[in-house]
Amino acid sequence: MTKISIDEMASFCKKKGFIFQNSEIYGGMAGFFDYGPAGSEMKKNIKDYWWKYHVQDREDVVGIDGAIITHPKVWVASGHVSSFQDIMLECRKCKFQERADTFIEDKLDIAADGLKAKDLNKLVSENELVCPKCKSEFKEAQDFNLMFETQVGPKQDSESKAYLRPETAQLMFTNFKLAQEAARMKLPFGIAQMGRAFRNEISPRNFLFRCREFEQMEIEYFIHPDKVKECPYIKEVADYEIIVYSEDMQKNKKEAAKMKIKQALDKDIIKTGWHAYWLAVEHKWFVDLGVNPDNLRIRQHLSDEKSHYALDTWDLEYNFPFGWKELQGMANRTDFDLNQHIKHSDQKLTMYDQKQKKHIIPYVVAEPSLGVDRSFLVFMFDAYEHDKERGNIVLKLDSKIAPIKAAVFPLATKLEDEAREVFDLIKKEFPCKFDRSGSVGRRYARADEKGIPFCITYDFDSREDKKVTIRNRDTTKQIRVAIRDLKDILEKLLKGEKLEKFGKIIQ
Ligand code: GLY
Repeated sequence: MTKISIDEMASFCKKKGFIFQNSEIYGGMAGFFDYGPAGSEMKKNIKDYWWKYHVQDREDVVGIDGAIITHPKVWVASGHVSSFQDIMLECRKCKFQERADTFIEDKLDIAADGLKAKDLNKLVSENELVCPKCKSEFKEAQDFNLMFETQVGPKQDSESKAYLRPETAQLMFTNFKLAQEAARMKLPFGIAQMGRAFRNEISPRNFLFRCREFEQMEIEYFIHPDKVKECPYIKEVADYEIIVYSEDMQKNKKEAAKMKIKQALDKDIIKTGWHAYWLAVEHKWFVDLGVNPDNLRIRQHLSDEKSHYALDTWDLEYNFPFGWKELQGMANRTDFDLNQHIKHSDQKLTMYDQKQKKHIIPYVVAEPSLGVDRSFLVFMFDAYEHDKERGNIVLKLDSKIAPIKAAVFPLATKLEDEAREVFDLIKKEFPCKFDRSGSVGRRYARADEKGIPFCITYDFDSREDKKVTIRNRDTTKQIRVAIRDLKDILEKLLKGEKLEKFGKIIQ
């Protein structure tokens, strides 16, 4: 991985067709981005792999796909109407607005997340912080609710007010009973969902890291309230190693430490087996997709940093060029949400416990909540490498998420028709690209920069021996294989088998 800044990554993503600023022709709109030809393929691959890993490969998780606009009472019950806010600073003179905690963090290099308005005001006045635009004083910091409001139907009154969902999670709670009964799920089980969410961020920043419209992949994992400590799957992850940064380490200025999941549990750093299990599962999802584990850590929220619904929260963090930042929050939401919806809807969102002969309210011990766009950014940063010898960028994306799996080149224009026949053999099996322009070296460089794992070249010998060369993006090693075997070999290479297995390495 070659470290580059977030701005350099944004311009690389634009140039290579991964991400564009939304409505750029009109000057753009802060906090909104569009995925381009390469980006939309890669985003789809990320989502497909998330769904496969979390839903299709597991017996204990089912999916839903809920609406973006939902009954406004949902957001009253969930606490978002009263508590889903950031604190805003506004300049008295030029009216420039800024999110108070991140502004103070940047200026004073201290942690300010979770501080109340009065504490932030004190820091502003004690440190004489002023508007970065016109150097005038700020007004008193005030709460700002992050939900986007809209009107439903032709009447434009308070009755028709609704919100764009700020998280997908609530749909898992409101559909909890319907999904559980329809899929005949027994505790413990999870409900998963992927979809758009919207937050009217005061100051969106860092490219895809903090957007106003984004996509989430979330699971609510329900367990029996008496079995919070009993995770039947813990053995699967007991020896899995993770860099851990607990509340105690942060408060006592200790370094984060690499440890096995079982050590973190034995030392009571992670309080429940369930929480530890899901942290390991989520960490592994990134590692399976090629992310270097040294760039990932889990960090416990400090007491005053937790969301209104959380008993304990750990974030999976990534070492971004702008520091370690949240990639995925994992809150122990207890029975907060189901209880709230029981109170507000007067419906029985409970399950019957045959042994205890009573209804119980399931408990959400971990809520893996991941942003698609942040994951995208992580995969890009981790894969980005400037290869000095080649003189170009090599985007070492895992084959599972690479937007294009193979590129086919005719060595010369004369060979184009035959090379196209090779392309036709594989194009329906894998997303592929046919590239005929420029030198082969230039075509390799273009493929490297788009993260294409394999390049296939049809040359003059191919006419005689009916073979083509396959070149591996990361090693530049090549083998020569029979055209009739190409599809099968490519399929195996994309699953991670070694090039050497299918032929002698040639120059
Ligand atoms: N559901 C948790 C979050 O959106 O942050």
